[in-house]
Amino acid sequence: MPPFDEYQQKIIKDPAKLSFDYVPQTLVHRDKEMQRLFSIFRQVVEGGLGQRAFLTGNVGTGKSVLSKRFCLDFQEWGNEKGKGMDFVVVNCRARNTPASVLLKIIDHFDKGFPDRGFSTTEMLEIMRKHINRKKIHLIVVLDEINVLIKKSGTDLLYALTRFDEESLGGEHRLSLILISQRPVYEFLDPATLSTFKRTNTVQFDNYNKEQLWDILRDRTELALYPGTIEDETLELIADIASEWGDARFGIELLENAGMIASEENLEMIAPDHVRSAKAMTHSVVTESNLQSLSDHMLLALLGVSMAIKSKAYITTSEAEKAYALASEEFGESPRAHTRYWEYLKELDGYGLLSLKLSGKGHVGKTTLISLPDIPSTALSEKVREMLGSRGLG
Ligand SMILES: Nc1ncnc2c1ncn2[C@@H]1O[C@H](COP(=O)(O)OP(=O)(O)OP(=O)(O)O)[C@@H](O)[C@H]1O
Ligand SMILES: [Mg+2]
Repeated sequence: MPPFDEYQQKIIKDPAKLSFDYVPQTLVHRDKEMQRLFSIFRQVVEGGLGQRAFLTGNVGTGKSVLSKRFCLDFQEWGNEKGKGMDFVVVNCRARNTPASVLLKIIDHFDKGFPDRGFSTTEMLEIMRKHINRKKIHLIVVLDEINVLIKKSGTDLLYALTRFDEESLGGEHRLSLILISQRPVYEFLDPATLSTFKRTNTVQFDNYNKEQLWDILRDRTELALYPGTIEDETLELIADIASEWGDARFGIELLENAGMIASEENLEMIAPDHVRSAKAMTHSVVTESNLQSLSDHMLLALLGVSMAIKSKAYITTSEAEKAYALASEEFGESPRAHTRYWEYLKELDGYGLLSLKLSGKGHVGKTTLISLPDIPSTALSEKVREMLGSRGLG
């Protein structure tokens, strides 16, 4: 017999409550954002209109979870007022083509709908039929919409914003909630952007330490056995996560610290378990994320993290110079300019840095680089470690 039954878990009572897709009954410190979303959408129920909202903010600021909580509560509220409401949440990182997004929506109404053989136009019509037949108003949440746009352009988005145009003064049937970390105007072309003029933005700010503490306290009560973590230890987690303002990182730390303490057969999480957990994880810059990068992509990333130290943004030429220095440091010769560009674009695709066109204050259009969610020193450290472990330098 394996000894599994003897392994005890005296800390985590309910792991599901720590999972990324758990939706708590109430969201701490997000009243203002919830209210704003409600005031945008109340016209759906009270005026028969279709609405659009754009949720934006950094990693782990509660955009995804709030959109789900909102849809659940709004559906209930609408139904109470006699308005048939429904919603579908699509993660565009997993579904980054128009067909796969539409398939997910149709599947919501018709399980087992075949996954090929229909054009997007046909699929839109099928979707319309389902909505009309059920006489509902549908909210479609497109989470991580930037990935869909990057991969497949804006055609689907455009079609969805025009969905109700032929209703000729009748009731509108479709609303959209679009979610991405960066503001939408950074990746839409001007023509598409003008269609989005009347889209309301809800900005999610980073959580501070006190807010994270409250979120974590709440989650502890749901997921852990009572008395398994002291306030001070929880404060350490909040403190670490507040560097990024990222609630997901905080919850991950809590979970991993709990697992480490359990493996040591203890009944309480100690500060050192938190520190070990921190060494194990980070939200974007995980060991496995870096592992999958080539040596020169790592060097490109190292260059950016070195050059950006005291700045919010750097230009690509500043970054390329730093890349050359980083290469030299590790005894490599830097690759040609066009190659370097490919590295940057790929790193952008992985979310390890982000590229955007400069606005005011720069002559002409230059591309600027920023690090979305990790302090540059922490990143340099991680990348150096990884390069070292590959025997470079
Ligand atoms: N105000 C809150 N109250 C309780 N839990 C929260 C709150 N905000 C975020 N969380 C939790 O933190 C984690 C991260 O939140 P979420 O997934 O919504 O972030 P996000 O903004 O969508 O991040 P990303 O941009 O990386 O997708 C989830 O487990 C979520 O339940
Ligand atoms: Mg999200």
